[in-house]
Amino acid sequence: MAIQKIGVIGAGQMGVGIAHISAIANYDVIIQDINADNLQKAITNIDKNMQRQVDSEKITLDAKKKSLSKISTSPTLHDLEDCDLVIEAATENEKIKTKIFEQLSQIVKKEAILASNTSSISITRLAASTDRPEQFIGIHFMNPVPVMKLVEMIRGIATSDETFKASESYINALDKTIAVSEDFPAFIVNRILMPMINEAAYTLYEGVGSIEAIDTAMKLGTNHPMGPLQLADFIGLDTCLSIMQVLYDGLADSKYRPCPLLVKYVEAGWLGRKTNRGFYDYRGNEPIPTR
Ligand code: CAA
Repeated sequence: MAIQKIGVIGAGQMGVGIAHISAIANYDVIIQDINADNLQKAITNIDKNMQRQVDSEKITLDAKKKSLSKISTSPTLHDLEDCDLVIEAATENEKIKTKIFEQLSQIVKKEAILASNTSSISITRLAASTDRPEQFIGIHFMNPVPVMKLVEMIRGIATSDETFKASESYINALDKTIAVSEDFPAFIVNRILMPMINEAAYTLYEGVGSIEAIDTAMKLGTNHPMGPLQLADFIGLDTCLSIMQVLYDGLADSKYRPCPLLVKYVEAGWLGRKTNRGFYDYRGNEPIPTR
C-alpha cells in the first residue's frame, strides 16, 4: 500500500518535528492532540522551524508555503480515519499510549499501519493493544527531528515484511538514515545514551564536578555537540527518567538505577527547557547552572 497521508498523535516537540519533515517530503499530514492550545503552538513552531531552513537555503519559501498547506490539525482521533500511517508521539507513558492505540484501532481503516515513536517501550507489547500487531512497528526519530539524520526501526514479534517495507520507504522519502534495532528496552540509541546522561547526573550528585565542569568536559573532551546535562534538559528530564526506569525494570540490572538527583529534579517539575528550568535555569538571557 502506498503511504500518502500521515497522522501524527501528540503535538509535542517530536510530533511537531515528524509533521514538519513529512510535509516537506510531500505527504499530507494531520496532527492530533487533545489540547487545542498545543495544536496552535505546533503550527507556529513548524512555521518558525521551516523559516530557519528557508533562511539557511535548505528549502525555498515556496516549498515552505506548500508544506505548511499540507498540514492540518484536529483535537479528535476520529479525524485520523483516512490516514495510511499513524505515528503516535504522545507522552512516554505506556498506559497513555496503550489507550490511544486501543481507540485508534477502532477508527483507522483496516489497511493502515500504526507506529509508535516510543523511545523505550516494548513494540511487541504496544502492538498487542491494537487489532493489527502485524501492521504495527516502532519508528523512532531523534530530536530535533528536522536536523538529526537517524531513525531507528523496530519490529515487534508480529510485524509483517510488508509493514516494514512500507515504513522503510516512508523513512527513505524523508531522507533519513535507518538503524534497525531489536525490540529490547530503549533500543540502541537510548540504551547507550541514557546511562551516560544518568552517569552525568551521578557525577554531579557525588560532587565529582559541577554542572559546568561536567558539560565542558564532555563537550570538549569527547567532541559532543552538547554536554550530557545540557542534552538532558533538551530531551526533557521526565523523558530521561522514564527511559532509565524502563531499562531498570526491563533488564533488572542495578547499573540502570536512576540517579536520585535526576528523580528530584523531575519531582520538582524542573524538566529542562520545556519548563524553563532543569539542570540549567533558562529564564534569563543565558542559561545558568542550578547547582
Ligand atoms: N528545525 C529546523 N532546523 C533546526 C532546528 C529545528 N528544530 N533546530 C536546529 N536547527 C538547525 C539550525 O537552523 C541550524 O541550521 P544551519 O546550520 O543551517 O544554520 C542548525 O540546525 C544548527 O542549529 P543552531 O545553530 O541553532 O545550534 P547548534 O549548532 O548548537 O546545534 C543542535 C543545535 C543541532 C541541537 C546540536 O546542539 C546537536 O546536535 N545537539 C545534540 C542533539 C542530540 O543528541 N539529539 C538526540 C537526542 S536523543 C533523542 O532524541 C532520542 C530520544 O528518544 C530521547
